[in-house]
Amino acid sequence: MPRLTKLTGFIGAEIGGLTIGEQISPADAAFLRKSLAEHQMIVLRGQHLDRPKQKALNRVFGAPMRLPYVEPLPDDPETIAVLKEADEGGGGVFGGEWHSDFSFLENPPAGSVLNAVEIPEVGGDTVWSSQTAAYASLPKDLKEIVDGRRAVHVGKPYGVKFAPPEETRSGASIRMTRGDPAADRETFHPAVITGPLTGAKALFLNPIYTTRLDGMTEEESEPLLQAIYRHCTRPDFSCRHRWQAGDVVVWDNRTTLHYATNDYDGHRRLLYRTTFTGAPPQ
Ligand code: SIN
Repeated sequence: MPRLTKLTGFIGAEIGGLTIGEQISPADAAFLRKSLAEHQMIVLRGQHLDRPKQKALNRVFGAPMRLPYVEPLPDDPETIAVLKEADEGGGGVFGGEWHSDFSFLENPPAGSVLNAVEIPEVGGDTVWSSQTAAYASLPKDLKEIVDGRRAVHVGKPYGVKFAPPEETRSGASIRMTRGDPAADRETFHPAVITGPLTGAKALFLNPIYTTRLDGMTEEESEPLLQAIYRHCTRPDFSCRHRWQAGDVVVWDNRTTLHYATNDYDGHRRLLYRTTFTGAPPQ
């Protein structure tokens, strides 16, 4: 029987008593989906998933999604290697700023599965932040600004207009397409969305990809967005995962932000990531 232990007051649950195989029973799949909807990120330890098992777990939550701009494994377009080699120090790291994934797409990923293969002895934790908890406690003046408003998202790191400085980019082990003018187009999403299963409201703003609030210029939006980001990345709403090889974490990409810590220069870190799709954010 699977069992669930909450990891913090607002976000995260560890699932025990479940070994992920290539076939996942309807009852276990329903339990996993409910756990993710209610806790926004779930941890299963000691799984050591091979590729077919990771894909079976990914399929529990949605159809596999191929990510643009990030080069996948040569023999598997649905999987990316989140890799930093021991000799890749000194720069940024993939995912090393608070963000949700690819919110500049018309239909951003619903979530991802991250499967730890090689982990430094210390460091390389990942942190998730509940945007449901952040919305619930957002100060009234900021709530009034975001409620019923859309926000504009742009694929900044992959485009031309906002191309990031070289030294902040992640190292050579993750190859990305840069300089694509199409990534500069604006996509509009509600600034507050509703979790499809729980009905709970969550902030849907992205420190990497949101350029402005609809109806405002970038200059007018900037101080408001910064005030919201200071609130929504508070440690109160977060869960920090200390990885061990064999762990797998699944997260809801719409109602959380995440952050990959970059404190392990000189050590190799490898995780495999798959992503699943869902209905567009509402
Ligand atoms: C990411 O998917 O943003 C990277 C997460 C991590 O490497 O911990």
